[in-house]
Amino acid sequence: MSKVISIAHPNFALIKYWGKADLKSNTPAMSSISLTIDTLSSTTKISKNRQTNENIWILNGKKQEQMRQLDPTLEYLNRISNYTSGCIIESNNNFPTSAGLASSASGIASLVTAYDRLFGLNLKLDSLVQASILGSGSAPRSLLGGFVILDAEIGLNCETICQPEDWPLSVLICITDYKEKTISSREGMEISRKTSPLYKSWLDSNKKDIQTAKAAIDEKSFNNLGEVAEKNCYKMLEVMKSSDPSINYLSKQTIDCINKVRKIRDKGVDLFYTLDAGPQLKIICKPEDKETIKRDLEKHPSVLSLVEANIGFGARVINES
Ligand code: PMV
Repeated sequence: MSKVISIAHPNFALIKYWGKADLKSNTPAMSSISLTIDTLSSTTKISKNRQTNENIWILNGKKQEQMRQLDPTLEYLNRISNYTSGCIIESNNNFPTSAGLASSASGIASLVTAYDRLFGLNLKLDSLVQASILGSGSAPRSLLGGFVILDAEIGLNCETICQPEDWPLSVLICITDYKEKTISSREGMEISRKTSPLYKSWLDSNKKDIQTAKAAIDEKSFNNLGEVAEKNCYKMLEVMKSSDPSINYLSKQTIDCINKVRKIRDKGVDLFYTLDAGPQLKIICKPEDKETIKRDLEKHPSVLSLVEANIGFGARVINES
C-alpha cells in the first residue's frame, strides 16, 4: 500500500478537561466526556517519504515549518512499526483551524488512523489512544463516535458510552470569529494548573460531574445533561479567568450569542450550550427544535456563520491504494 486517506471529526467536551497530569506524556489530569460531531471533518492523506528521511506536514495546503505537534505521535508510531524514514502528511480541515473547534483532535485522530493502516499495524484501541494523546489530550475522543468518555481514573480508558443512533441530538455551532487563538490550550491549561486558586476544586469536582453526566446519558435525560454540562463549562471558564495571567477565549460576539441563546431557551425551547478554548458557541438541542433555533440565530449580527451537525462516527479510513 502506498497511500491511505482517513477522516475524523472534532469532538466537543460536555465534561471538560483543562490541565495535565504530566506534560511529557501529555496526559489529562481529569476525565472528560465528549460528543463527536459529523459535519466538520479533518481528512488526512499519508504516504512514505521516498526522497528523504524528513517528515513533511502540509496543513490546509500550506507546508508547516514545524512538526512539533505531530512529532511525539509519529515517534511513538515509528517505534512500533520500526520505521526510520519520513512520512508525507497532508491534512485538510473543512472548518476554521485552531479556533476552538477541536481541529487538533480530529487532525491527530485521522493521522493515527491513516498511519495504522499504511503500516498494517492493526493497533488495539489503547495504543491508538496513547499515540493520539501525545498530539492532543482530546484527540483520543475523536477516534470514536457518539458520546465518548476518556477516563483518567482507569488508565485512560476511552470508550463510546452512547452510540450516535441511540440518542440522536443535534448540534448548532455559532462561528463568531475565524481568527486563530493566541494562547494554545496546552499553554493555557499549564498557566491555570500553576496559578489558578480554583484549580484544585476544579480537579476535585471532576469525578462527580462525570458521574452525573454519565447517569444523564444513560437515562437520556436532556435537562440533567444540559445542567451538568453548562455548570462544568462555566467552572472551566472561571479557572481560566482566575489564572495569572487571566485567560479569556471569548469575544463580545460570543457573549452576545450566549445572551440570545438564553432568550431562546427562556421561550421554552430545550437547549444547552458549551464553550471551549475559543470564541465559538456550541448549542446542543433536540432535532425537532433545530429549525426554530436556527431561524432565531441565523440573522443575529454576532453569528458569522452557523454550522449544523449531528452526532457523528469515529475516525476511519476512506481510501487506500
Ligand atoms: O488537549 P487539547 O489541546 O485538545 O485541549 C482541549 C481543551 C478543551 O477543549 C477546552 C476541553 C476538552 O476537554 O476538550
